[in-house]
Amino acid sequence: MPAVWPPREFRFSELPALDAVVVSHEHEDHFNIPSLHMLDRGIPILMSSRASFAAQAMLSEMGFRSVALAPGEVFSFGDLQIVPFSPDHLVSFNADEWDGMALLARDRANGGAFFTPVDVFPTKDMVARLVKALGDSAHFLTHMSEKLSWVDTGAAESLLTKKAEAESSQDEAQALDRLAMGAALAIEPGASVILSGDQIASLKFSTEFLWTVPERSRPERPLWRHHPDGEYGPASGVARLAEPEWREVEACLRELAQFLYGSLLYKRLYSLTVDTGALPQPKFVIVLRDQAGARGFEYDPGSCGFKPVPAAEAQRRYVCGVECWASDLAAARRGVFEPRILSLGHSRFWRPDKSMPDPFLHILWPFFHPQRWPQECLHAYRTQYAGVCQAESGILHGQAQARTAEVAAG
Ligand SMILES: [Fe+2]
Repeated sequence: MPAVWPPREFRFSELPALDAVVVSHEHEDHFNIPSLHMLDRGIPILMSSRASFAAQAMLSEMGFRSVALAPGEVFSFGDLQIVPFSPDHLVSFNADEWDGMALLARDRANGGAFFTPVDVFPTKDMVARLVKALGDSAHFLTHMSEKLSWVDTGAAESLLTKKAEAESSQDEAQALDRLAMGAALAIEPGASVILSGDQIASLKFSTEFLWTVPERSRPERPLWRHHPDGEYGPASGVARLAEPEWREVEACLRELAQFLYGSLLYKRLYSLTVDTGALPQPKFVIVLRDQAGARGFEYDPGSCGFKPVPAAEAQRRYVCGVECWASDLAAARRGVFEPRILSLGHSRFWRPDKSMPDPFLHILWPFFHPQRWPQECLHAYRTQYAGVCQAESGILHGQAQARTAEVAAG
């Protein structure tokens, strides 16, 4: 994803030697080809065994040895052990985090452990397994996103599950303090906690290779989710589609209609009763913006398709809808980027209430998931990798020319 928060600085030249790299799952903000390309190919990459074939194939094409991490299978190197845990997609909603796993890293020689659920929710089964795996060693728990999903009281034998909302690490620490009797540390990117035995030996809030940009120097936080009003540009930078590309978009909408059969949206729409003639209609619409004029497409379950409709006043006429640029839908279908980028100020959606599915979380994110399009996804990864290599050779060429010029100048 192009925007991570809080913003951070990374100095690759200062990165210490790595024994292995864990890629938690195949989302762009975790499985990132330009970042992976910076790594020595001798470093093994530990990747979720549930990732698509595209991710596994791409790692191998890049020259990496990848190790598939499966829930419950312990991976060891040196004194460190990595233990992956499966989420439970039946009891908690993890959006399209299909290959996501929670991870425990523990030091068998010196004690201490670190646990993160990454992007999935911890469950009772996970906590029970975790408690067993931790034994009585000192441990750290992190939360996911900005929802504190649990708290380690530091006193109880098992882990206390609580919920709280927070906007920043400081807010989170305060909330944790209230919930957990002062067991929380506000840690931002770059912080290191050195454990020795069961004690914290030292705590550093930044390292030579990673630190968080101070609050006063941060840019405005990118908008998450949709623009309720106002103008927004295409994430792809393309404002106008050629007619052949519109055919591509229409083909994508046919695929989307097939995907929607029996889905949450389908069930919800089929559960609505609306008085004759009343607006909005109990239907779902997609409005695709284009410089030459927006086009509307109404979901028609009966024909398992989307039929063209006027785009004007869609929000007044349809109970649920999503609007984005046509070029962005086409780009997501080609695998140029993940649909998550549309949620960063490049789209908007509406629905009457939360009983109606979120068009992104429940529809577009899972629709475009790599596991649904592994071939297209591999093609996109290859294109991205070729672009990274090309840019690098351009930089190297420029550096060589500059050196030649320096030598010539004496
Ligand atoms: Fe994710």
